[in-house]
Parts: sequence; structure tokens; C-alpha cells
Amino acid sequence: MEPGKGIGGRLLGLLLVAGLALLRGSWGLENGLARTPVMGWLHWERFLCNVDCRADPHNCISEQLYMQMADIMAAEGWKDVGYEYVCIDDCWLAARRDDNHRLQPDPLRFPSGIKHLADYVHSKGLKLGIYQDVGTHTCAGYPGSFGFYELDAQTFAEWGVDLLKFDGCNFINLDMLIEGYKNMSLALNQTGRNIVYSCEWPFYLWPFVQPNYTDIRKYCNQWRNHGDISDSWNSLKNIISWTAAHQSVIQPVAGPGGWNDPDMLVIGNFGLSKDQQVTQMALWAIMAAPLLMSNDLRNINPDSKALLQNQYIIAINQDPLGIQGHRVTRASHDFNCWSLMLRR
Ligand code: GLA
Repeated sequence: MEPGKGIGGRLLGLLLVAGLALLRGSWGLENGLARTPVMGWLHWERFLCNVDCRADPHNCISEQLYMQMADIMAAEGWKDVGYEYVCIDDCWLAARRDDNHRLQPDPLRFPSGIKHLADYVHSKGLKLGIYQDVGTHTCAGYPGSFGFYELDAQTFAEWGVDLLKFDGCNFINLDMLIEGYKNMSLALNQTGRNIVYSCEWPFYLWPFVQPNYTDIRKYCNQWRNHGDISDSWNSLKNIISWTAAHQSVIQPVAGPGGWNDPDMLVIGNFGLSKDQQVTQMALWAIMAAPLLMSNDLRNINPDSKALLQNQYIIAINQDPLGIQGHRVTRASHDFNCWSLMLRR
């Protein structure tokens, strides 16, 4: 009898298929999104919580800022090389929910509303990301999603949002933090809209317990492990060292649909030398990291622009195998060797 053709063989085949289906079901967030790391722009590192549009209309958190970034992303080659998501971070909200408990943007800074902004961004062939928090308040003190996960997910879907960055400030206790992240994931899926789910769940757990990454991957498309990046070599080095030091825990879970997020690219700002910028781009590509730039695309140095748009480095980051690279040796404090595997 040919191997695999008897009853035993068929049974084995069935078991194998069932086993694979089980593995697939339990492995990742199967919303079909982020099959390669997300690429785009996120306001936080460069523009922070600048809400003073009277004093600084050009740089404050307002609908105009995202429209301008979308214009440039579409017109100046960014979209062509893969940068797709224009993302709002904290400080877009009004101080209170409306009478129906719905979230609302600050009326002075977002007079046309988020739906209008999403339509605008979509008209440029791009996608819109937004920010909220699992706890009672966002990190900057705006109303959080606690108690309103379903309503907020629905609101985002109705507005046409394509990505949610879900922060973890002001949580009540660890169980609530974990449950909140899971609930928001389910609520987003229930809307039926494709919304990439970006979490900070492990970062907020690490001070207390080692996060369960199998669980995190089941619910999130990407997750922050480390504190906020800033525009300095020291900050970069800390993130890279943390990632390498924890790679046995975090590297195996990364792959199509779910990625470790070492935070934004700060290339094109003020704090990194040319070589340091090259290092960030190279390491973020090797680490299969989301490529979310936080810089001012209206005014960016040509070398930084060329680096961020380098198609060879982007191709490494976007490799379909999606295997995160890892550090193989640390010959000295300043000399590390990393390895990665790509599809042939
Ligand atoms: C936290 C996050 C940052 C940013 C700010 C906004 O610090 O880690 O990325 O979203 O909140 O307040």
C-alpha cells in the first residue's frame, strides 16, 4: 500500500490538518491585517501634546496637521514605497464624552470631525490611525475607553478609522488591563471593519509580571514592550539593548499578523547623527518593526528622506516570511552582530 493511502494514512492526514487548524487558530490575531509590519506616520514623538493652536497653529494637534501629512505622503513618494497609515496619537479628544457617551474630538482643533478627516485621508489612498487608552483616562488625561470598549470600537468603525493605538495608562488593576485589551480586540473585530490593533499591553505588565506573549499575539497586531522613544542615541540604544536582552522571549512570537513594536522612527528630527539614523533604519528593518515615522514631512532633510524611502531596507523590513532578526554576538559594548532570515 502506498504510504498515506490506507485508513491509517488518511487518519494521520486528518489529524495533521486538524492540528494545523488548531495551531493556526491559537497562534495569532486572525483579522488578516498587518501581514507585514505596518508602515506610516504617527504624530507623538515629534509633536507631542501640543494643543496650543493659537500660539503654534502650524504644529499643534489639529486636523490640518494630518491633512498636510497625508498630502505629502501621497505626493512625495512616501505612499509609493509603502508608508500608508497617517496616525493620530494622544490629545485629539475633547475633555468630555458627548451626551450619548460617545467620544468626540476637540471641536476647535478638529472642527470637521474625524469622519471627515478619515474620508480625506482615504481620498489620498491612505489610511487613518487613532489613539485611545484601556484605562479611565489617556496618558495625557483625556477620557479613556474603560467601560466603553464596544461603543468606542463602533464609533471608530463608523468614522472609518483603520488602526487603533490602544495605550495602557490609568488602568485599575492588572486583570482589568489584560481583560480590557482583550475586550477591545473583540469589539474591534465585531465591528466588521478592518482595524489594525496596536497594543502597549506588555509594556505596562513588565514591571509586575512577565507578559504572556502567546495571548498578546492572539489579540494584537503589534505591541510595545518598552518605554517611549525619544530623539536621542541613548534612547535608541536602550531600546535596541532591551530588545536583544529579551529576544528569547519576544522574537519567536513575531510574524505575519503580529509584531514587536520598538516604537517610532525618529529619523529626520534633531537628535541623531547621519550614522545613527542609518542605524535606526537598519535595526528596525532587521527587527521586523512597524515603520511609523514621527517627524515633520513638510520639512525634512533630503538624506533622511532618502534613507526612510530606501526600498532595499524597506524590502528587508517587509519580507513576507516575517521572521524577526536577532543579535548573535555582542563582541563589545559598541559592536553587535545581528542575523536575520529572509525569503529567497
Ligand atoms: C504613552 C505612550 C506614547 C504616547 C503617549 C501619549 O506614553 O507610550 O507612545 O502615546 O502615551 O500620551
